Amino acid sequence: GEKWVLMKTAQTPTNIAVIKYWGKRDETLILPVNDSISVTLDPAHLCTTTTVAVSPAFQQDRMWLNGKEMSLSGGRYQNCLREIRKRAREVEDKERGIKIEKKDWEKLHLHIASYNNFPTAAGLASSAAGFACLVFALAKLMNVSEDESQLSAIARQGSGSACRSLFGGFVKWIMGKEDDGSDSLAVQLVDEKHWEDLFIIIAVVSSRQKETSSTSGMRESVETSSLLQHRAKEVVPKRTIQMEEAIQYRDFASFAKLACADSNQFHAVCLDTLPPIFYMNDTSHRQVLVYICWIISYVEKWNRSEGTPQVAYTFDAGPNAVLIARDRKAAAQLIQRLLFYFPPKSDTDLDSYLLGDKTILKD
Ligand code: PMV
Repeated sequence: GEKWVLMKTAQTPTNIAVIKYWGKRDETLILPVNDSISVTLDPAHLCTTTTVAVSPAFQQDRMWLNGKEMSLSGGRYQNCLREIRKRAREVEDKERGIKIEKKDWEKLHLHIASYNNFPTAAGLASSAAGFACLVFALAKLMNVSEDESQLSAIARQGSGSACRSLFGGFVKWIMGKEDDGSDSLAVQLVDEKHWEDLFIIIAVVSSRQKETSSTSGMRESVETSSLLQHRAKEVVPKRTIQMEEAIQYRDFASFAKLACADSNQFHAVCLDTLPPIFYMNDTSHRQVLVYICWIISYVEKWNRSEGTPQVAYTFDAGPNAVLIARDRKAAAQLIQRLLFYFPPKSDTDLDSYLLGDKTILKD
């Protein structure tokens, strides 16, 4: 038979939501109950690298994640593969005498190798980078002509947050109105050059896999949390407009206020869910809980004492803190303080963090 292999590689960073996506109105198509906004990280740090290959010698579609073979039978992979294959076009490599016609793509099998340079499924949006990268690499291999927004609607069917990783800078996932999901896609608000002063620090406090997957967590919240209904209808629509403005004008004070409030409301929705979901406190590690409380109240306190906010915090479905500093100087100060105060060494220490923080409630 024929011996050739054709390959493409792509690299995609993860993204961190500053207005959170939480709750689906359609679980199969992955359509959200509200818009969300995120910042895409620098590809040098948290990213996925995916190589996709096609060859007439391949017997079936196969995928390896961090060197370990994994099943592609899940609906999410199948949906992405099907949607991309539908849009595949003719590919020709004249030098090597390879020609793949449009109709050939249905019969040809793929091998996919993907690497994360960060812990998988620990609340660091590994699925976001993963599905975005997969869809992008396949689109390159198959000479797909759709633009990034159109590709984002495919990546969305792998993992909702993945649709926002097709762009750099600040990105908005528009929830859309259509039942078929055709208008539920990502658009770039500003590129990575727009707000270069921002400095993002990710404190990985636990790389354990989260206990409640975001899919079942969201389902339970949609079914049981009245706060989620209120958030989706009343809060997020206004907040996204304000957040877009804050980003446009590089207004860090508003940005920090909105991002912290939105992270806190997302976790409040989790607590309002039946049974309650505790993403921020990895209960098996008491120190993690203290650390989280401390970071939140420390940042709140520091921001107030400075007159103008220096740092915003945001937490996804795990205890890892994402801290967004207004500039390099604020970031350096923050790291210095984090290293100075941590870890708490005794119960007295622990109490003093928690009690000490009460003072911020008074002013
Ligand atoms: O894309 P998913 O299903 O992993 O959901 C991610 C949800 C959050 O990370 C908690 C929020 C967000 O908008 O990224």
